[in-house]
Amino acid sequence: MSTQSTSVTFLIGTIAIVSLIKPDCVAVKEDESGFKLCVTSRGGIRDLSHHNLRSVPSNLPNDTQYLDLSYNFIQRLNGAPFSGLSQLCYLMVTNCGLREISPAVFRHTPALKVLNISYNELPIIPDISLKWLKILDLANNLYNSYRIPASFQKLVNLDVLVLGSTAALSINYDDFDPLTNASLHHLTLGAGIHWQNYDSGALTKLKSLETVSIFAPFCGDLNTFENVLVDLNVTKATSLRFITLFPDDCSDTGNLFKNLRTMPFIKNLTIENTWTNSSFMEVFLKNVWLSYLYDLSFVNITYSEDTLDGFQFRTINHTINLSSITFNGINHYQYKYPTFNMSFEAISNLTYLKFSGTGMNILPCNLLSALPSLETLDLSDNLLPDSGFWWIHCSYTSVFPKLKRLSLSKNRFSSLSFISEKTHQMKTLESLDLSFNSISLDGDCSWPAQLTELSLGNNNLGNSVFKYLSENFERIDLSKTGITAITKEDLSRFPNLTHLQLSSNSIQVIPADLTAKALLSLYIDQNAITTISREGLAGLPRLQTLKAGGNPFVCSCDSHWFVTVLNKSMLLDWPFDYTCSTPPAFAALPLSEYKTSELSCEMWLQAAVAVPVIILICAAIGLVFYKCDGVWYTKMLWVWIRVKRRGKMRSNMLKNVSFSYHAFISYSHQDSDWVDSQLVPSLEGAGCSLCVHERDFVPGEWIIDNIISCVESSYKTLFVLSKHFVQSEWCNYELFFAQHRAISVQRDSLVFILLEPIPTDSLPKKFLRLRSLLRQQTYLEWPNDERKQQVFWASLKSMLHMADTSVVMKDVALAIADTVPLLTDQD
Ligand SMILES: *[C@@H]1O[C@H](CO)[C@@H](O)[C@H](O)[C@H]1NC(C)=O
Ligand SMILES: *[C@@H]1O[C@H](CO)[C@@H](O)[C@H](O)[C@H]1NC(C)=O
Ligand SMILES: *[C@@H]1O[C@H](CO)[C@@H](O)[C@H](O)[C@H]1NC(C)=O
Ligand SMILES: *[C@@H]1O[C@H](CO)[C@@H](O)[C@H](O)[C@H]1NC(C)=O
Ligand SMILES: *[C@@H]1O[C@H](CO)[C@@H](O)[C@H](O)[C@H]1NC(C)=O
Ligand SMILES: *[C@@H]1O[C@H](CO)[C@@H](O)[C@H](O)[C@H]1NC(C)=O
Ligand SMILES: *[C@@H]1O[C@H](CO)[C@@H](O)[C@H](O)[C@H]1NC(C)=O
Ligand SMILES: *[C@@H]1O[C@H](CO)[C@@H](O)[C@H](O)[C@H]1NC(C)=O
Ligand SMILES: *[C@@H]1O[C@H](CO)[C@@H](O)[C@H](O)[C@H]1NC(C)=O
Ligand SMILES: *[C@@H]1O[C@H](CO)[C@@H](O)[C@H](O)[C@H]1NC(C)=O
Ligand SMILES: *[C@@H]1O[C@H](CO)[C@@H](O)[C@H](O)[C@H]1NC(C)=O
Ligand SMILES: *[C@@H]1O[C@H](CO)[C@@H](O)[C@H](O)[C@H]1NC(C)=O
Repeated sequence: MSTQSTSVTFLIGTIAIVSLIKPDCVAVKEDESGFKLCVTSRGGIRDLSHHNLRSVPSNLPNDTQYLDLSYNFIQRLNGAPFSGLSQLCYLMVTNCGLREISPAVFRHTPALKVLNISYNELPIIPDISLKWLKILDLANNLYNSYRIPASFQKLVNLDVLVLGSTAALSINYDDFDPLTNASLHHLTLGAGIHWQNYDSGALTKLKSLETVSIFAPFCGDLNTFENVLVDLNVTKATSLRFITLFPDDCSDTGNLFKNLRTMPFIKNLTIENTWTNSSFMEVFLKNVWLSYLYDLSFVNITYSEDTLDGFQFRTINHTINLSSITFNGINHYQYKYPTFNMSFEAISNLTYLKFSGTGMNILPCNLLSALPSLETLDLSDNLLPDSGFWWIHCSYTSVFPKLKRLSLSKNRFSSLSFISEKTHQMKTLESLDLSFNSISLDGDCSWPAQLTELSLGNNNLGNSVFKYLSENFERIDLSKTGITAITKEDLSRFPNLTHLQLSSNSIQVIPADLTAKALLSLYIDQNAITTISREGLAGLPRLQTLKAGGNPFVCSCDSHWFVTVLNKSMLLDWPFDYTCSTPPAFAALPLSEYKTSELSCEMWLQAAVAVPVIILICAAIGLVFYKCDGVWYTKMLWVWIRVKRRGKMRSNMLKNVSFSYHAFISYSHQDSDWVDSQLVPSLEGAGCSLCVHERDFVPGEWIIDNIISCVESSYKTLFVLSKHFVQSEWCNYELFFAQHRAISVQRDSLVFILLEPIPTDSLPKKFLRLRSLLRQQTYLEWPNDERKQQVFWASLKSMLHMADTSVVMKDVALAIADTVPLLTDQD
């Protein structure tokens, strides 16, 4: 029981690890050529690999450009899910156990340029007639013949073809006939299975071949191999690659390449994933020295030293064309250093040597002087320490006299000051690659003047690294070196700097004062930069190439200039690697799809637009205001507001006072028409009691006494002002005001109704008070417009009702009731 549960937890743990690792394994290969051919927007990518699918989902968006269905269990591709995918350009269905493809699939996808259906179980090569198809991979399936279907005649643009089946054992003369007119340049043929038969002439049908990879062993089958070589010579292919030429247990390697010396077209030859031994190498290289070959590569080979004295090679006395040799990955069968006894004269004209992935930890002394023509030495991916390359026992009188480029990437170098001192020995060195080492800044560095390019990428160096570099440097690679900030001073040290790579650091801003007059190319992708501003690039007048993707861009007006103004052809990775990071609403939105309007982001434009708009609106409001007597309405509103505001104060004040009338109305008898027909009916109709002079005056008393008694028993005094009133009656009121200064001070009790306009200037100077009252506009104007008259009445009535006597009395009664609890309200 307990063991079972352990194994279950172990299983769960394994699954957890597998699912954690997964995203890395299925990462879309963005730098692949087919990918670049097809994908123009990140939104067009659908990676459905490793999804445990049993069929193609039917709801694929119709903007899909790249569809990866690999590592599922899809035995048949039907047409239906592909209908509508008219933009599909890259289809990848590998490792799915695929057995059948309906021709309808390709009818729906006319734009397909890349089709990869390798690693499946297709029993025949399917019919494909896509005019635009450029890359087709049919490797590792189960068809039993390489006979190409006639429909392939339509693939006139086919550039790359990969064919291979473990069940196809022979190649027949007319297998490739339908492709005679295709522009096929790159062919990979075979599945690592020995061909039982190859009909001479089969490959000659492919006339435009340039690079050919043959993935088949030829152990002891000299005949077939020679036939293949002769045919490839006819196609004039320039580059040949042989994968698994010999299986591990091959006992007859023979002299396979003896025809090489009569094949003038082949320039590049690669031997890959193959078992070799020193006796084969001796024979093989003799052919190579005599051939037209220019470039020879060994990739992932296992080397066995089967001859007693190791690799022996005698002097040659003819010119050798070979100028480039690559060893990339050598597994030594014997656990010892291999022995070479050869005249280095044979390689004395070599210009390029790569010795990578060999486990080398000491560079042999004799090599240093043996390669006088060498221009490029690539020793990347070995185990060389500082003293392994500059070995103390070697004499350095003549070290690589023509060497221009040296790569020591991916080794164990550590001391930058030591290396900088040693580089003075290489008089022509221009470029040095120290990336992926353990370099530390351990002291002052002095670099030779001719060295202009240095890569220190992927070493942990920090911000101070610039101080250790030479002012002659033109190209500096400081990718992933732990830089958190750059300053104007850092770059001003390099007057001739043209290329600067700062990818994968933690830089947050490009300083606005950054200046690099000569800079042509800047990489600052994968940093922590939120915006790229006009100011940041202003000091880089010659910048032609910028790579800035993979930064956490802010999608706001800060990015406006970058998104809309900056010339995107300068950006290497646009629009692909540019996405919004903040604000959260825009997170993961492609920056190219982020829309800002110039209006919302440019200050001057805002002002330029806003000012006229505001003026226009003001003018419009002004016009409406004027047309609809806004002034009059405003005045009324003002009066009404004041009345409301003072109402409360007033009612407190008037708690102990009671009035006989709401208002005393004073007017000139010439205006009695209006008063009798409009004012009095309207106010009395609303329940106001009025004291009207002439009507309610006590006959026989002095007019001023009458006025005063009426005023005193009214809450408000209402003057109906008109020219007549001013001329005939005003004198009386001057007198009244003079006598009762106290009442007149309480201006609120006076209400002036302006029956007709009275220009202030037309009034006699002596009517000081009237002039000031009119100037202060504390009056109600009688309007002729009927709608406005309603407002007029409402205002007037509300003024008078403030003094509703019964309300006042009730307030007094309630106040008393509050103070004398025994009394009860009798209502
Ligand atoms: C893609 O589908 C949408 C609806 O899902 C449709 O509006 C649009 O026209 C289609 N575009 C193409 C190119 O078929
Ligand atoms: C097709 O897919 C296989 C498996 O992923 C891959 O190894 C191969 O390189 C692809 N072929 C091409 C031409 O890209
Ligand atoms: C190739 O082109 C030639 C002439 O242009 C034509 O006669 C021949 O049939 C074509 N072959 C194929 C396989 O399309
Ligand atoms: C390769 O072609 C050239 C000229 O086309 C010819 O002279 C030479 O003999 C051929 N070599 C072989 C091995 O067929
Ligand atoms: C080395 O190559 C020869 C043929 O040149 C072959 O006979 C021999 O078996 C090979 N040795 C080993 C160890 O594979
Ligand atoms: C052939 O070799 C040259 C020199 O190394 C190289 O530049 C070129 O890319 C190679 N061509 C092919 C097709 O591999
Ligand atoms: C290297 O070659 C051997 C065969 O010699 C092969 O089994 C192995 O997979 C190859 N390794 C790589 C990384 O291609
Ligand atoms: C080297 O190449 C030249 C042409 O590039 C050719 O004439 C010469 O014969 C070649 N040398 C050898 C040894 O094949
Ligand atoms: C190296 O080769 C030469 C002949 O080219 C021979 O005389 C010499 O003995 C060889 N040395 C070793 C150590 O095998
Ligand atoms: C060198 O050339 C001479 C004559 O040109 C020839 O006799 C001799 O065999 C050649 N030596 C080699 C190793 O090819
Ligand atoms: C090296 O090149 C020079 C001139 O280019 C030539 O004279 C010499 O024979 C070549 N050496 C070899 C071994 O090819
Ligand atoms: C920059 O380049 C110019 C012209 O190539 C050269 O004269 C000058 O010495 C260089 N300056 C530095 C500091 O390398």
